[in-house]
Amino acid sequence: MKVCIIGAGVIGLSTAQSIYQHFHERVSPLIIEVYADVFTPLTTSDGAGGLWQPYRNDERNVEEIKWNQETFDYLLSFLSSPDSVKMGIFLQSGYNLCTETVPDPSFKNIVLGFRQLTKRELDMFPGYSYGWFNTSIILEGKTYLPWLMDWLKERNVTFHQRKIGSFKELADSGADVVINCSGVRSGELQPDTELRPARGQIIKVDAPWIKHFICTPNLSSSGNLSYIIPGSHLVTVGGVYQEGNWDLQNSSVDHERIWEDACKLEPSLKHARIVDDWTGLRPLRTKVRLERETIRSGPGSFEVIHNYGHGGFGLTIHRGCAEEAARLFGQILEQKGKL
Ligand code: FAD
Ligand code: BEZ
Repeated sequence: MKVCIIGAGVIGLSTAQSIYQHFHERVSPLIIEVYADVFTPLTTSDGAGGLWQPYRNDERNVEEIKWNQETFDYLLSFLSSPDSVKMGIFLQSGYNLCTETVPDPSFKNIVLGFRQLTKRELDMFPGYSYGWFNTSIILEGKTYLPWLMDWLKERNVTFHQRKIGSFKELADSGADVVINCSGVRSGELQPDTELRPARGQIIKVDAPWIKHFICTPNLSSSGNLSYIIPGSHLVTVGGVYQEGNWDLQNSSVDHERIWEDACKLEPSLKHARIVDDWTGLRPLRTKVRLERETIRSGPGSFEVIHNYGHGGFGLTIHRGCAEEAARLFGQILEQKGKL
């Protein structure tokens, strides 16, 4: 049984890991190959701030809430192990700030110690009248992706740097199942009118005195969102959310706006050393595409599992989606009489 995964971001690598964990003892041989034209440290998953926090408008998708929760619980289970450092995960507490009273978010009962902000806390953030405080998890892609790759390589999963032109290309070279984890560029492999980029730009700064994240979880009317997320070495300052914009260049106009807003939220940032700017494209979709498809090819057919469209929450949801993709893979194995 040969499975070929397209994509080496957090979605492709974690899907490879879940498939290995569930099936390597049950299917022999199980050959897992990962194909990608971009690897860590250059994927979108590497650039993200890495805060475990779903977007506020996810209440309608019950499955996504479940996958978010599974991911949080999975990451939390590693925090008491020495591996957490090698994986790039740690606890982080902080503030979400709103300009009006809003309903509690879907993650209220997933994160730790969720509570509303007190008046004294709100007084620290002029212009904000409501919000909450909680402890969440940071998952740094630049550490987690190399950890996942090493984990997979130790178990004989192979990696191939190559741009894939079609699913059929992999089926023709012997793949029984193709798993599509190609993120924002998935439309190049199969048209998807629901998929579009939401361009993001962030600034990395050296400001070790910042000990809490500060997020404004509501998009402004001009499509902006502001956040400050302390990482293990640098602080991520964002951001923008530009739907339909494919431009991967850093913009000086966006830089100025991000910086001005962030310094209003946290005036001490004026003393921070700016280290880098980075632009990435969130794979935006109304909902994650996580489903099976049988593709006819000549007289035969092959199976594809799609796992893409994780918007601005790919790190937040990745493990739950990887487990669901592995479950779909198990269904295919059963139907083919391989289990
Ligand atoms: P990617 O990481 O983009 O990986 C896609 C892979 O597919 C790459 O390896 C690429 O080479 C490969 N590929 C695509 N097409 C082909 C092809 N034809 N042939 C071969 N290979 C191909 N999420 C959070 O949870 N928390 C955050 O704090 C957070 N902050 C963010 C901040 C910004 C500014 C941005 C832009 C995003 C942020 N996100 C965050 C969202 C998160 O980064 C994405 O949801 C996640 O990275 C998507 O992962 P992915 O594996 O699908 O895509
Ligand atoms: C973002 O998409 O920019 C983002 C996602 C989660 C937390 C903070 C920012």
